[in-house]
Amino acid sequence: MIERFRQIFGQAEGVRVFRAPGRVNIIGEHTDYNLGFVLPMALDLATYVAAAPSGGRNVRIYSEHRNEMREFEVDGLAERKPEQHWTDYPIGVAQELIRAGHALGPADLLIRSTVPEGSGLSSSAALEVSSALAFLNGRAMDPLELALLCQRAERNFVGMPCGIMDQYISVFGREHAAVEIDCRSLGRRYVPLPHSAAFVAVNTMVKHELSGSAYRDRVRECAAAVEILKQQYPGVESLRDVSPEQFEPAARLLPPVVARRARHVVTEDARVNRFVEAGEAGELARMGKLMLESHRSLQHDYEVSCEELDFLVDAALGMEGVFGARMTGGGFGGCTVTLLRRAAVAGFIEGITRAYEAKFHLTPRTYECRPSAGAGECKNFEKIPALS
Ligand code: GLA
Repeated sequence: MIERFRQIFGQAEGVRVFRAPGRVNIIGEHTDYNLGFVLPMALDLATYVAAAPSGGRNVRIYSEHRNEMREFEVDGLAERKPEQHWTDYPIGVAQELIRAGHALGPADLLIRSTVPEGSGLSSSAALEVSSALAFLNGRAMDPLELALLCQRAERNFVGMPCGIMDQYISVFGREHAAVEIDCRSLGRRYVPLPHSAAFVAVNTMVKHELSGSAYRDRVRECAAAVEILKQQYPGVESLRDVSPEQFEPAARLLPPVVARRARHVVTEDARVNRFVEAGEAGELARMGKLMLESHRSLQHDYEVSCEELDFLVDAALGMEGVFGARMTGGGFGGCTVTLLRRAAVAGFIEGITRAYEAKFHLTPRTYECRPSAGAGECKNFEKIPALS
């Protein structure tokens, strides 16, 4: 990567490389902006940014994957407006860093990523967090503040009213464990996964147009549910505060669509807690069942699934060694995540690939998910993959 940096920018003095991982969310979907629970793991798919201070007055950012170079005056960074372009992520982060009092100087950045874009594996957060570390270039920042700053960049500059899950797990991921995040207290618990279990993400290779606007609609619908529920239950500030037992008798007060959205969130929070218990007891069948319930709830009540995701879930259920499957991430395309017996992984990948090809004439990409460490500086350069 350093050699590539030299080719692109003409020198490679003082280059440092920073890494931030993508993630797969095992359970707890669309609960983060309702201040509930999520259970993601950081992946070994990651975004790497090689960076060095430079002379001149500009920040130059080169994306290897797009083969595109963009140049920005340091003095103008704070005033820039979003352009609906991949550079919105690093520039949004740069603005938040400036706002938080971190002076930025001229620099060169080279971006390489193995997180597939638009796949629901959080390529955006991986780019935000790795860019933030690159701009900081070794200056210390509290890790929670780093995650929150990157979330602000996505909300304020990119314009997606996302929750905290993706940036948080990219910062706090750990090898050999999923991370249960309480999206209100921002506390976390590392959850080791049963050794005999494997998780495979299967990429539909589609991203339907609806995803951005539908996400905003869901955020609004959940807020509308809270406004009504708080009249019944004073003290309710988010859907996190409503238990499934409290919700059902109050559901008739809500417009039908809003009631279904809220039912998903309320039951999904409860499923995360039950899943963690089942995981700790090594009960793979119960874990799988909860994942499937989560998918059905996202499919019918939250309505963020799509034909391709539903097909991958239904096809997986009939396969050898599979305990459960669900869509993961925002929805409307991207990936599913399947829980299966470790020994069944190779056969599953073969079987699901054939089934999807036969139905959609598209070859899905598959990734065996290994929990990996959170973001940081890369000291072991041999580990950085070459661009494929
Ligand atoms: C996207 C958002 C997250 C979260 C998920 C859905 O990945 O960035 O904050 O809301 O969708 O669970």
